[in-house]
Amino acid sequence: MISKSKEIIKGNLLSPLPIILVGSLVNSKPNFLVIGYSSPFDFGKYTFFSLYKKRYTRIGIHEHQTFSINIPSVDLINKTNICGTKSGRDIDKSKLFTIFYGELKTAPMIQECPVTMELKVADVIDYGRNEGIIGEVINSYVNSECLNNGKLDMRKVNPILWATGGDYNYYSLGNRLNIPAE
Ligand SMILES: Cc1cc2nc3c(=O)[nH]c(=O)nc-3n(C[C@H](O)[C@H](O)[C@H](O)COP(=O)(O)O)c2cc1C
Repeated sequence: MISKSKEIIKGNLLSPLPIILVGSLVNSKPNFLVIGYSSPFDFGKYTFFSLYKKRYTRIGIHEHQTFSINIPSVDLINKTNICGTKSGRDIDKSKLFTIFYGELKTAPMIQECPVTMELKVADVIDYGRNEGIIGEVINSYVNSECLNNGKLDMRKVNPILWATGGDYNYYSLGNRLNIPAE
C-alpha cells in the first residue's frame, strides 16, 4: 500500500501474532498462560517466547525444563482469556481443560486445542524482568479433522490472532490466498 505520509508510532509492529497457551507442571499441577510474543526460528525447529519472570508458569518450566505450546481456536476465547488474566497463584487453571501428555511426560497439553506441541528448554536468555525462553520442538500433535491430505489446514484450526500497534485486540484468520510458497 503506497501512502504519501508516514507516522512514527510506538512499539514493535511485527504483528499480528498467533495467541498461544504455554503450559507447564507447577507443583505437580498443569498451569497455562497466554503468550502473545512468540516466534519460531531455525525453520521451525525451535520456538522463542517472551516470559515475565513473575509468571507462575515459569516455575514449572525451570523445574522440569519442558513446556507445551497449545494453539486455541476462536471458540476457546473465554477460557484463553482466563489464562491470560488470572495467575495460577490465585486460581486452579488445570480444571479448565482436558490434559494429555506425550513423550516428555512433564509438558501438559490441552486436548481441546487442535494444535499442540511438546518442547524441551534449549536456552534461557536473561532480559531483566523478562526472559526469552527457547524451546526445541520434540513432537507436534494435530486434530485429524484439521488435516487435508496430511497437511495442516489453518482455516480448520481457526486460531486466535493478536494485534499490537496500540490495538492489542484479538482477530480471527482471513482468507487463504492459494499462492503456494515455493
Ligand atoms: C493477549 C495477551 C498476551 C500476553 N502475552 C504475554 C507474554 O508474551 N509474556 C508474558 O509473560 N505474559 C503475557 N501475558 C500475560 C499472562 O498470560 C498473564 O499474566 C497470566 O495470567 C500469567 O499466568 P501465570 O501467573 O499463571 O503464569 C499475555 C496476556 C494476554 C491477555
